[in-house]
Amino acid sequence: MVKKQLYIGGQWLEAKSYTKLSEPYSGQELAEIPFADREETERAIEAAYLARGVMAKLPAHKRAAILETLSRLLSERAEEAARIIALEAAKPLKAAKAEVDRTIQTYKFAAEEAKRLSGEMIPLDAAPGGEGRIAYTMKEPIGVIGAITPFNFPMNLVAHKVGPAIASGNTIVLKPASQTPLSAFFLAELLEEAGLPAGALNVVTGSGSVIGDVIVKDDRVKAISFTGSPKVGIGIRNRAGLKRVALELGSNSALIIDKGVQLSKVISRCVAGAFSYQGQVCISLQRIYVHADSYDEFVARFCEAASKLKAGDPLDPDTDLSAMITLGDVSRALSWIDEAVEQGAIVACGGRTSSAQILQPTVLLEVDRSAKICCEEAFAPIVLINRIRDVEEGIAHINDSRYGLHAGIYTDNIHTALDAAEKLHVGGVLINDIPTFRVDHMPYGGVKESGLGREGVKYAIGEMTEIKTVIINRT
Ligand code: SIN
Repeated sequence: MVKKQLYIGGQWLEAKSYTKLSEPYSGQELAEIPFADREETERAIEAAYLARGVMAKLPAHKRAAILETLSRLLSERAEEAARIIALEAAKPLKAAKAEVDRTIQTYKFAAEEAKRLSGEMIPLDAAPGGEGRIAYTMKEPIGVIGAITPFNFPMNLVAHKVGPAIASGNTIVLKPASQTPLSAFFLAELLEEAGLPAGALNVVTGSGSVIGDVIVKDDRVKAISFTGSPKVGIGIRNRAGLKRVALELGSNSALIIDKGVQLSKVISRCVAGAFSYQGQVCISLQRIYVHADSYDEFVARFCEAASKLKAGDPLDPDTDLSAMITLGDVSRALSWIDEAVEQGAIVACGGRTSSAQILQPTVLLEVDRSAKICCEEAFAPIVLINRIRDVEEGIAHINDSRYGLHAGIYTDNIHTALDAAEKLHVGGVLINDIPTFRVDHMPYGGVKESGLGREGVKYAIGEMTEIKTVIINRT
């Protein structure tokens, strides 16, 4: 069994204590992982703080070159990277490979953005008294960034924080999810090989509350980028003082299917959106509102397609669906199914486990709006399909949520589509697609309890830089 070390100040350091990491699917032990305490976390912050000057002075072409090299190294070791994700996160190999491909793209976008980072000219003479002066802005790195990442995309969601941070000349203290540290250590190895200056990236693993608390309280950390639960995210926001905070939180993403839509076009997309990576995706398709005219046919075809998904070992290239991340999450999901059924919902397929940690793809019908499976984030292979009279009713259901990340609508009517785009209270609207769509340079983030700020490399850089205005008096 491998024993990992903390990565601080460009060195691999033995930790004071360790914890064992097991595969969610087989339960087999994978590695011994450092369990950093407060003092070790502070050392990582100190290393990032000391390296901030070097990073801020690194020219754009060098930052870009490091990110390009990282992207190349990752593509050379893509198989190994996908296997790490599959083992530690129980992500089926085909989804893990897709994540590695996306991660390579994210770092490429970061390399490009490093070269594009620029300010603007401000026409000062637009205001009386501004004549005779020229102003321009510069984007300066903010300094040390605390990055706290989730288990569900252990490479690409790390890339969404580390890529923009390096592109804009910042340094990072990274706390990856406890279940998926190996992807983060792998990244640190590649970045070391790519020539990142010592201290620019530091990886500390251990308790989220201990490490998170140190990062939030330390004045040397100037910004926090967090992806995870609303409860933790809101807690960080409330304690962060003057730190910048970017939050990617939960969602119960939804889709409307209007009357007249050709179902053959949408069923396989919807099944993929609901069950990819066991539904443990922030923009997983959790609620589908189908026009009454097509409802029965949609449900029958959806359930038929869902029942063909292959559950099993994440390392089997044919597996579509594997273990959920913890047994506790399986129990929670089952209890939410029970609650919905007690309130009158019908289980159209699934609803049970096929092994200890694998929950069958589950479809619930006629779910009450107050059921947790409707109004909370499921993060499980469960989707509800409810009948609607018209698109307006669907929009009202989607907006009746504490969350607002992505929503989709399939319709053949352009006016209906544009009307929905205006009325849906979310960060992203997908027209003629499911909400479970993201490419890595688009702005990504939500409203309401889905978060604060936007990711997507260029947009994340905005959260990680300060604008400095330079005014020249020519008179
Ligand atoms: C997420 O689950 O927060 C990210 C989804 C994605 O990047 O596709």
